[in-house]
Amino acid sequence: MTELSEEQIAQLVAAAQQASERAYAPFSKFYVGAAILTHSGKIFTGCNVENSSYGLTNCAERTAIFSAVAAGALDAQRELMAIAVVNRDGAVCSPCGACRQVIFEFGPEAVVIYRANSGEIAQTKAKDLLPEGFRLR
Ligand code: THU
Repeated sequence: MTELSEEQIAQLVAAAQQASERAYAPFSKFYVGAAILTHSGKIFTGCNVENSSYGLTNCAERTAIFSAVAAGALDAQRELMAIAVVNRDGAVCSPCGACRQVIFEFGPEAVVIYRANSGEIAQTKAKDLLPEGFRLR
């Protein structure tokens, strides 16, 4: 696993926490923020955006990744190095299955930082969170 410094981890978690303040989650009231680190050292953030038509909800992780792609900062060559995801109120929150697949697309080796069931902040490689992740070849 690409080693991240304690400072980089703290910076990403802080950026994710800030982003969670902007979450639009009037239905679930589960406010999520995410922050990604690209290989060039840029940080992009995202929050969950819910909708009255519930199924249209976009998770925080995908908001962050899609923003980086749209900004030209992330593609298959310029890979995702790390992503942090937090619940605004400190609840346990690991990336959902859909987000694991999207993270895997841009960085199977990326370090995923999240609050695990144990209550502790955990670091797991994307490919370990999603074994045999799907890829078109
Ligand atoms: N949510 C995320 O933003 N990321 C996750 O990985 C888990 C779930 C959001 C979606 C929804 O707005 C709320 O949390 C409750 O499911």
